[in-house]
Amino acid sequence: MEEYSEFMMGQFLPVALSTLQFERAAPCDLYRCVRDEQYVFFAKKGVLFDRAARDRVVAGDASQLYIREEERALYHTYLKETLVSIVNDPTVSSEKKAEAVHSSCLQTLQRTFEEPRAAFLVQACEILEPTVNLIVSDVEASRHLIRLTTYDHSTYVHSTNVGIFSIALARILFSGDNQHDMQALGAGFFLHDLGKCKIPIEILNKPGMLTDGEREIVQRHVLDGYQMVESSGLMTDEARTIILQHHERDDGRGYPNQKSAEEIHPYARICRLADIYEALTVDRPYHNSRSSFEALKFMKEHVVSGPDEELFAGFVKLFMV
Ligand SMILES: [Fe+2]
Repeated sequence: MEEYSEFMMGQFLPVALSTLQFERAAPCDLYRCVRDEQYVFFAKKGVLFDRAARDRVVAGDASQLYIREEERALYHTYLKETLVSIVNDPTVSSEKKAEAVHSSCLQTLQRTFEEPRAAFLVQACEILEPTVNLIVSDVEASRHLIRLTTYDHSTYVHSTNVGIFSIALARILFSGDNQHDMQALGAGFFLHDLGKCKIPIEILNKPGMLTDGEREIVQRHVLDGYQMVESSGLMTDEARTIILQHHERDDGRGYPNQKSAEEIHPYARICRLADIYEALTVDRPYHNSRSSFEALKFMKEHVVSGPDEELFAGFVKLFMV
């Protein structure tokens, strides 16, 4: 077994390997975790992070490296600048762009849900900007992103998926109509479940059915998320409306305000469709996951009616290859 004489302690943050681009300088000193909360130095800031470096990490059975908490801002700047340059580089394929955007989005949303402070919300919105730009401007990259969506119970994975589906649908519905602020919508879609960070983990991950009291706590995420973004002053009315209304239903049995069909904003409808599709395609304690085709068929037969029908026709197009 490997022995290390230079253990480092302190506050370290994980960074996914997939967010470190080959042939770019490491944005800060990088560390490996060798035991619980014990880290060893791996690579110095400024050194080119290449395939060999990544292979050494993977050979150690890891998928992430670590940075010091105090260098978080440096890493964020690296993530943002790298992403913008990749998305704007005509020599980079749509597939590679989609991969870069996807891993940065997952990483950023995971961090945001762990620590939803206003400063980190700002950082999340900065990473979402090139993400939304890519989905809106590059149909091929948007298709790759939809293929990259994976399903598990994590709120940040769910949020990334719903964000991708929703913005891709908004592109189809609103293309050519510049009245819609896609960046503002993107923030609302990707952060629609932000309030879930306040739900106790044992309720969030409870394998069985929820009690009435637990359901009430879960449903609070809508108002909590709304209040969090309102107090941060970060988002537009449209984005806040998405967060507030994404669980309203046309029959008036939704929450938190039991809105009627006419009162539910189309943006919230987009988010709700994506949210329902995502829920149907993930394994839950009370149902097995459905394939994309089965989920769309179920939605067509049991969920979609009235004002949702036109939106749903666009939604189906996202999954046609
Ligand atoms: Fe939700």
